[in-house]
Amino acid sequence: MSNSSRKYLIAGNWKMNKNATEGVELAEDIVSQLGSKTSVGVVVCPPYTALESVGKAISESNIQLGSQNMNPEASGAYTGEISAEMLRSLFVTHAILGHSERRALFHENDAFINKKVLAALANNLRPILCVGETLEERESNKTIDIVSAQIRKGLEGVGEDQAENIVVAYEPVWAIGTGKTATPEMAQEVHAAIRKVLSELLGEEKADKVRILYGGSMKPENAPELLAQPDIDGGLIGGAALTARSFVGIVEAAAELAG
Ligand code: 13P
Repeated sequence: MSNSSRKYLIAGNWKMNKNATEGVELAEDIVSQLGSKTSVGVVVCPPYTALESVGKAISESNIQLGSQNMNPEASGAYTGEISAEMLRSLFVTHAILGHSERRALFHENDAFINKKVLAALANNLRPILCVGETLEERESNKTIDIVSAQIRKGLEGVGEDQAENIVVAYEPVWAIGTGKTATPEMAQEVHAAIRKVLSELLGEEKADKVRILYGGSMKPENAPELLAQPDIDGGLIGGAALTARSFVGIVEAAAELAG
């Protein structure tokens, strides 16, 4: 593995797909196809309504459970929202925060996302902080600036001691659900820039331990090349996470590289 100090992490973001029953079927298929591989970390992130049943379906496996969002407040009058403690009580270990769909469709800004990151860490949940540029931003050469600012603002107030609990996902908005993937070189360039910002924030040693996932039309066919890049430590998978065969195919590609 080129990034020897970091274990690959493959996370499936099911988005608003799969009810509780369908979620269990998919989780059981993933468990049976995956076997007991431990060289790669695997997380599934079903909708809230399937967390409990999917959690039970994966309880005997090495697969971990993630949520797709989380409210930063501990409790109270926040109709429709879910707290970190509620997630912890269902054995959730990871929370996707600041996904571009939440930024674009639900108007989440960096300051709000930062509150979520801090609340997740305070509650022993590992944030998967999502960052990424739009097509317009890429075409005007703003990618590195945009992504760096999202990282700095998203991680404000995060101490070095928390570095190992942080996961970052670089998801170019134009590559999500479009079938267009960043080339491995394009993705690597941004991942390296993210790691540079992380080392400014957390110190080089800690930054080397943070896993930076790529997301955006990753599938078994393009995963080997992307995952072979030195700063790509895994994937955040949308469409291809909805069938066991393709999701497990990506995990297998990572396992192959991990050796
Ligand atoms: P796709 O894999 O469907 O492009 O989605 C990526 C994503 O948004 C994962 O969070």
